[in-house]
Amino acid sequence: MKKVRENGIDGFGGLVSFIGLAVACFIIWLATGLATSWLIATLLYVAMASCFLYTTLIGKQKIWDQQLPQITLSTDTRALDIGCGHGMVLFKIAHRLPAGGHITGIDIWRQQDQTNNNVVVSSLAIHNVKPKAGRQQSLREIARVLQPGGQLVIADLGFSCNAYRQELTRLGFHDIQVTGTGINGWWGGPWMPTLVLRAIR
Ligand SMILES: C[S@@+](CC[C@H](N)C(=O)[O-])C[C@H]1O[C@@H](n2cnc3c(N)ncnc32)[C@H](O)[C@@H]1O
Repeated sequence: MKKVRENGIDGFGGLVSFIGLAVACFIIWLATGLATSWLIATLLYVAMASCFLYTTLIGKQKIWDQQLPQITLSTDTRALDIGCGHGMVLFKIAHRLPAGGHITGIDIWRQQDQTNNNVVVSSLAIHNVKPKAGRQQSLREIARVLQPGGQLVIADLGFSCNAYRQELTRLGFHDIQVTGTGINGWWGGPWMPTLVLRAIR
């Protein structure tokens, strides 16, 4: 049976940009007679690319390994992973689900309308929805498909999570907590962090 690849490189364009800038700075460093400033720029972009790769391949998994034990899963759990991609979070939850529990992943390759979920998770997906009104609509949809008392956990880029908190408050979610994830969630550096938002419908 073909094994499903559960993770990929997120934001591939961002990674290519960091590597491209590192190579460009390195060439300029050579061409300018080894000027220190271009060596520093090269090393900076190499560090940013390494940080990005660490987050997408390792840090992101660590973030969810820390979050998932805090989600209550039972035999009648109906969970939904929004923007599941290759299914990294979806498979982690599936492995933890007791027999009878159920998880569905949706992505833009498939339209589905799931209601009465008691867990909804989303990993680094909702910020992709453009424009802002679309992201607000996504949160309204989450409110619609999550049953009262259901658990929501969103990991996303820092600036997005702060906006989600306001919208979810307006939608009546409670016990909303936004926490940092440290170096595991840095997309090139601390200025582009991942935050985790937890809330109850
Ligand atoms: C950065 S990837 C994260 C994938 C996965 N959640 C993970 O953490 O490994 C973002 C995912 O969001 C999906 N996505 C983007 N816009 C979406 C939308 N409007 N509805 C559903 N999924 C979307 C993309 O197709 C992509 O798989």
